[in-house]
Amino acid sequence: MKTAILRLLKEDDSYISGQQLCDRFQVSRTAVWKAVEQLKKEGYMIEAVRNKGYRLVDSPDVMSKAEIESMVRTKWAGRSVIYYDETDSTNIQAKLAGENGSEHGTLVVADRQVAGKGRRGRSWESPKGVCVYMTLLLRPSIAPVKAPMLTLVMALSVAEAVRELTGLKAGIKWPNDIVLNKKKICGILTEMSTEIDYINYVVTGVGINTNQETFSEEIRKRATSLLIEGGRHISRSELVAAVMERYEENYERFMETKDLSGLQEKYNGMLVNCGREVRVLEPKGEYSAFASGINEVGELVVTTPEGEEKHIFAGEVSVRGIYGYV
Ligand code: BTN
Repeated sequence: MKTAILRLLKEDDSYISGQQLCDRFQVSRTAVWKAVEQLKKEGYMIEAVRNKGYRLVDSPDVMSKAEIESMVRTKWAGRSVIYYDETDSTNIQAKLAGENGSEHGTLVVADRQVAGKGRRGRSWESPKGVCVYMTLLLRPSIAPVKAPMLTLVMALSVAEAVRELTGLKAGIKWPNDIVLNKKKICGILTEMSTEIDYINYVVTGVGINTNQETFSEEIRKRATSLLIEGGRHISRSELVAAVMERYEENYERFMETKDLSGLQEKYNGMLVNCGREVRVLEPKGEYSAFASGINEVGELVVTTPEGEEKHIFAGEVSVRGIYGYV
C-alpha cells in the first residue's frame, strides 16, 4: 500500500484526502496515516493539512523498494524490486534470487555495495548514496551462446536512458561501457547459470556513476559521473526506472529475432568506436584497424590496413581507441 500511496501522491500536485485513500485501499485512516509516516521517515516531505489531505512537497534522492516500484512503468522489467541499503554485490544477490526461483524481470538494487564486482575479476567502487547499483534477473529462452548479446542490449538501454533523462550525449564504447567526454560513466557485468543447451538464468549488473563527485586516484583519469558532466543531481530512482523502460522495449525487440538485427542501427548510432581507428588487443598480439560497427550478433566489425575484415568477439579481445581509453 505504501508504494501505491506514493504513486498516487506523485501523480497529483494537489491534496489527496485521507478518506479518498481509505476508500481506495479499503483500510482505516490509521493505516493510511502509518503508511504516510513511514514514507516521511524515508525522507519524503509530505504535507498533511486538516480537511484537505496529503500532498507530496518534495522527494529527495531516496532509494527504496517503494520509491523504485512507484516509478517503474513497465510490464515486467523491474516491476518486482529486491532492495538493500547495503549488500555485498547486487549480482551475487540476483544470482541467489535466481537460484531461489525469483521471476524473470526481478531487479536487485542497492544503495551501497561492499564487494562490487567489475569485469575480468576487478572490483567496482560502490560508495553509499550516490550511484546506481542494480542487477536484472532474466530467464530468456535462448541458447547460452547468445546470452552475451544481452549485455549489449543493456548498454544500449542505459545510453538511451541517460540521454533521455539528462540530455547528455552518452555514447557506447564497445561492447558495453557507457562513456561521456571519453570517460566511463557506467559498467555492465553479465553472469549466468546454464546447462549445456539451456539457460537457468542470466543476471545483468549495471553500475552507473550518477551523483558521485570524486573518484579514487586509481580510476580518476578514466571515470566520470552524470553530476560532474551535467552539473546537476539526478534522481537515481528515476534513472533506474528509465533504464528499465528502455530495456524492456529493447529486450522484446531482441527476442523477436534472438539477435541484435533490430537494434544494431540504434546501437551503432551511439557507438563511439564507429568509423574510428581502434587498437585490437588479442591474447596473441595487437594491431590497429578501422571499426565500422557491430554486426547482428554483436561482434565488432573491423578492417585491417591490409583490407582484411575481421569480426571481433567480446570475450576474446579488448579494444582501445588509439588516443587512450575510448
Ligand atoms: C565493469 O567492470 O565495467 C563492470 C562493472 C559492473 C558493476 C555493477 S554495479 C551493480 C552490479 N553488481 C556488481 O557487483 N557489479 C555490477
